[in-house]
Amino acid sequence: MYLRCDQSPQWPELAAVLARRGRQFDLREAFAADARRFSHFSQQAPHVFADLSKNLWDRTTEALLLDMAQACGLAQHRDAMFSGQPINNTEGRAVLHTLLRRPSGLALPGDGPEVAGQLAQVHGTLDAMLAYADAVRADDAITDIVNIGIGGSDLGPHMAVLALEEFRAAGKRMHFVSNVDGHELHSVLQGLKPHGTLFLIASKTFTTAETMTNAASARAWFDAQGGTDVARHFAALTTNVDAARQMGIHTTFGFWDWVGGRYSLWSAIGLPLAISIGAARFREFLAGAHAMDEHFRTAPLAQNLPVRMGLLDVWYRNFHGFASRCIAPYHAALRRLPAYLQQLEMESNGKRVAQDGRMLPYATSPVLWGEPGTNGQHAFFQMLHQGTDVVPLEFIAVRQPTHPLPGHQGKLLANALAQAQALMVGKASDSDGHRHFPGNRPSTFLLLDALTPASLGAVIALQEHRVFVSGSLWGINSFDQWGVELGKVLAKDIEARLGTGDVAGLDASTAGLLGLIRSRG
Ligand code: F6P
Repeated sequence: MYLRCDQSPQWPELAAVLARRGRQFDLREAFAADARRFSHFSQQAPHVFADLSKNLWDRTTEALLLDMAQACGLAQHRDAMFSGQPINNTEGRAVLHTLLRRPSGLALPGDGPEVAGQLAQVHGTLDAMLAYADAVRADDAITDIVNIGIGGSDLGPHMAVLALEEFRAAGKRMHFVSNVDGHELHSVLQGLKPHGTLFLIASKTFTTAETMTNAASARAWFDAQGGTDVARHFAALTTNVDAARQMGIHTTFGFWDWVGGRYSLWSAIGLPLAISIGAARFREFLAGAHAMDEHFRTAPLAQNLPVRMGLLDVWYRNFHGFASRCIAPYHAALRRLPAYLQQLEMESNGKRVAQDGRMLPYATSPVLWGEPGTNGQHAFFQMLHQGTDVVPLEFIAVRQPTHPLPGHQGKLLANALAQAQALMVGKASDSDGHRHFPGNRPSTFLLLDALTPASLGAVIALQEHRVFVSGSLWGINSFDQWGVELGKVLAKDIEARLGTGDVAGLDASTAGLLGLIRSRG
């Protein structure tokens, strides 16, 4: 029903555009030739201003990409997601994280028959979870909240709690334990007292080995330290409430299998954030995301920011061959954003087969990476300016600081603007190659007025939807993650072999390393 991007009539036309003038395209000339380039390629979306003008495209390319999106049925696919159709075809599931931030009672055109009931359940759970969050905030005896979870059950809440640190409840310390590496849990536990601690066991499936191991160790520590009242000190955030109960955790907040792990921050998995910033601000966070959902759902494709960014992603990956994208948040509180976006993009679109399981003839997810500015400037920006690879850069800057220190914010924003400028304009030096900056290096600049719950919600929803757009055009299922399963199975086998020393049937490298680890145990 949907067309894969390479089957659209625009695909060969885009290839021809690139062949004709492609790598000769020069941003400096493009600005000189089009006085309205900035205004055409920038836009205000809910809470986010985006400047896409320093990218390697012009109006003709953009129009072709938009036509391609039209031809591929992007709008229909988007509507299918919003209306609850089972677009996660390998698991037969709907993809309805947008429902988690939809206002109570709001019906949308095309809603499937179950959506109204699901929305009522969402709000019932949300109300209960937020009442609990506010009760925890008001409970002075609870000083430390420890979230135990991994992947989507860690990256989202951890990133968001840090991002909204400014709004964190006084007297509450937030900890995140994800790795099965005991060093992590051990170092957190060392500073805790059982009667002052609330453990949140966050796992969609309640089967993930890392989380189950850490949860069991946390529980053992709690008992050993004389902790009592498990119902007060442990809560489970999961779709598998029965498994949590079997583990003796009876304070539970549920969610649903139509919420993907990496899209679960808006569900009960968001409880650490709700405790940190409070119920009212958590609702603002949801509202910011909903505003972006509405923009994505209703804005014409040509003025639709997630669509434009997703199309640019396809243009860069498939026509320019750019294999990575660098994320540079110019705000220290957004320091976990690159890690969060890695899972969002790479677990969603790191696939090499189409929805029908057949091999794709083109590249999909780029590698995402990054560090906050200005730190990255003193580490890897050298390569971005003068290296052999072109890496599109995504700046995320915030206009208003929340700290009172004079002189910092101007310098920070000046650096962000200067880096984007330097990447584009370059600096010619005929006499010394070392001092020559080629320029013409693309970047996108996202600007928030302030880093608030609402603007953070909007930025995350923007990123979710741009990943949907590229995944949709690539014809892949962006909502499963089979690629993580094999390693999990093998780890169980090897864990047993580490105990017994049995290496039968193992490859020589794994057997050799296993023997070495045992011999030094
Ligand atoms: O690594 C695979 C994965 O399933 C992610 O998609 C998910 O976010 C993470 O593991 C954690 O899963 P769970 O929340 O079920 O513990």
